[in-house]
Amino acid sequence: MAAFISIEGTDGSGKTTLMKALKSVLQDKPVLFTREPGGTDFGNATRDILLHGQKIDPISEVYLFAATRRQHVVEIIKPALHKNVSVISDRFLDSSIAYQGAGRGVGEKLVEDINRSAVEGLEPDLTIFLDIEPQKELDRVHNIRTDEVNRLDNEALDFYERVKGGYDRIIEKTPNRFLVIDASQTEELIQRQALSAIMNLI
Ligand code: TYD
Repeated sequence: MAAFISIEGTDGSGKTTLMKALKSVLQDKPVLFTREPGGTDFGNATRDILLHGQKIDPISEVYLFAATRRQHVVEIIKPALHKNVSVISDRFLDSSIAYQGAGRGVGEKLVEDINRSAVEGLEPDLTIFLDIEPQKELDRVHNIRTDEVNRLDNEALDFYERVKGGYDRIIEKTPNRFLVIDASQTEELIQRQALSAIMNLI
């Protein structure tokens, strides 16, 4: 049976490397790889605004992510599952709950409410979470030495800690959906654990 799998993690957790490896290993399987924000023409068009645009109000940001998510669900994810093709998505709803809900302070509940009609009850069968300590993540993202953290980086660290807290709360609430992988391990070990969980499902 087709499965819906999401891959989550904070920036710098090695998610991109894992997605690349999975794509190459699973290329002969009936699996569709997609991502958020993106995945559809509409999603790719809004991706630019979301990631590099002007500052927008945090709740407006939630709506924009939710709009691209709904398009992603109705245009890509549900039709694929319907055709018995499994879907692996680089990020899904948990990203909004963690980044906007916890990170930007919108509140997890409001983000869930706004997204209700976007996901229409669709929930991943499995979510792989690449777990990394916010400080390590910051080091990876900025490639700096920890003793040179400046004011901006401190703000970033606060933000990453809130995002990580958001993810931790989702995992606590729905532990059965999650495979949490320690992202400080070697790429090979991370890939092996992720692949084994995926192969069990597809
Ligand atoms: P991207 O360049 O795809 O990086 P990553 O490899 O970390 O996924 O950027 C995605 C960014 O968008 C990332 O910082 C997380 C953020 N994001 C949200 O804030 N909310 C969301 O709902 C989604 C899907 C992503």
